[in-house]
Amino acid sequence: MTADDDAASEPVSERWSQWREGTDLEEYYSRWRRLQDAGQSPHGEADFIESFHPTSVLDAGCGMGRVAIELAHRAIDVVGVDLDDDLLNFARRSQPSIEWVHANLATMHLGRRFAMVAMPGNVMVFCRPSDRPEIVRTAAAHLEPGGLLVAGFDIERHHDALTLVAYDEHCSSHHFELVERWATWDREPYRGGAYAVSVHRLLNAG
Ligand SMILES: C[S@@+](CC[C@H](N)C(=O)[O-])C[C@H]1O[C@@H](n2cnc3c(N)ncnc32)[C@H](O)[C@@H]1O
Repeated sequence: MTADDDAASEPVSERWSQWREGTDLEEYYSRWRRLQDAGQSPHGEADFIESFHPTSVLDAGCGMGRVAIELAHRAIDVVGVDLDDDLLNFARRSQPSIEWVHANLATMHLGRRFAMVAMPGNVMVFCRPSDRPEIVRTAAAHLEPGGLLVAGFDIERHHDALTLVAYDEHCSSHHFELVERWATWDREPYRGGAYAVSVHRLLNAG
């Protein structure tokens, strides 16, 4: 799998640029590594993903590789993709043995399929709103039949916010059916709150 050359200078989104402006990446990375090294890093997303026993996972919007690295520690075959090469450099530094791909999720062609595409960490909130349907399309194109798409994101209330109705529509347009929806990664029931973890399965027609 190779990096997407067109991705080299593409901005992720306005929302992501704002986050980057307010964040010292070295400090952010050190804080996470300190927790990790002390065995205090919460692994709710990895526990949730592992509970489905996926043989392979595409960590879509992997950032510094927090979740992918934990999955690799659990002997899961994982590939990380992100459009922000600065964050990917931290991932490469932490775990050089994992394959890290610099690409836009909305246009990626990785040349292989996975048992699961996972998008923890608000990827659907930080991507460009116009890319959301394409990100669901490429997730389908990178899944084996019956494969799972797992996404956790904030349900916000502004004009560009992604609603669960809209997300489910993007998913059903690309032959996914909703199989589970939770309020947290440790499976608190979803009752219409401000965060949701959704699991969709790709039907064979995908
Ligand atoms: C809040 S971070 C979460 C990182 C990681 N998933 C985690 O949970 O630690 C959101 C990530 O989504 C990535 N992202 C957003 N839109 C993307 C796109 N179109 N293609 C690739 N990555 C994207 C950003 O670059 C950023 O690294």
